[in-house]
Amino acid sequence: MQEAETRDLLVRLAASLFARGYAVGSAGNISVRLADGFLMTPTNASLGALVSERIAKLDRGFNHVSGDRPSKEVFMHRAFYQARPAAQSVVHLHSTMATAVSCLADADPVAPIAPLTPYFVMRVGKTLPIIPYYRPGDPAMEPAIHAAAIGARAVLLANHGPVVSGPSLTDAVYAAEELEEAARLAILLRGHVTRNLSPSQVDDLVEVFG
Ligand code: 13P
Repeated sequence: MQEAETRDLLVRLAASLFARGYAVGSAGNISVRLADGFLMTPTNASLGALVSERIAKLDRGFNHVSGDRPSKEVFMHRAFYQARPAAQSVVHLHSTMATAVSCLADADPVAPIAPLTPYFVMRVGKTLPIIPYYRPGDPAMEPAIHAAAIGARAVLLANHGPVVSGPSLTDAVYAAEELEEAARLAILLRGHVTRNLSPSQVDDLVEVFG
């Protein structure tokens, strides 16, 4: 995909996330890997009102080269790209239910959402490590996210929200949506006895869908 098309797709998918309430205000940021660097949503920009030409461009070393000033979470995105060479896009949201799970004091630190549905396993994976709390934009979060992202497609930032990677921009957005819906189910079902997918059902999904 050419850069201009990628910019337009980013504008469309971000607006769709915003329109459906996955992002509010200026929360959230999205990046995409290009042949010669990265696109990143500008800091303090609403995902509902991105302008294609104003999206920040970074070189391969994550230096800002054009467009508006990039998200202050550039370290969070860099951690994923460096830990996961196949990742083509990273989506960070403050989506309500995933953020609710990130605030649970008794959450499992490696798999806070049980494998309730196949699409959660297929799009997000078997683990969703919780990263300890850092102030938004704090570069100190980078090593912790990097270490977790080596073995996980997505993480939850404690008391902050999800960060999801994918093999394309569209896949990363779909995974972020699937994670939010899985978190909604997990919160709805809290206190209920659930029938989770069994380890062999989970392994079957991983084997068939990767
Ligand atoms: P930016 O506006 O700098 O992208 O920050 C928004 C956000 O979601 C912080 O976590």
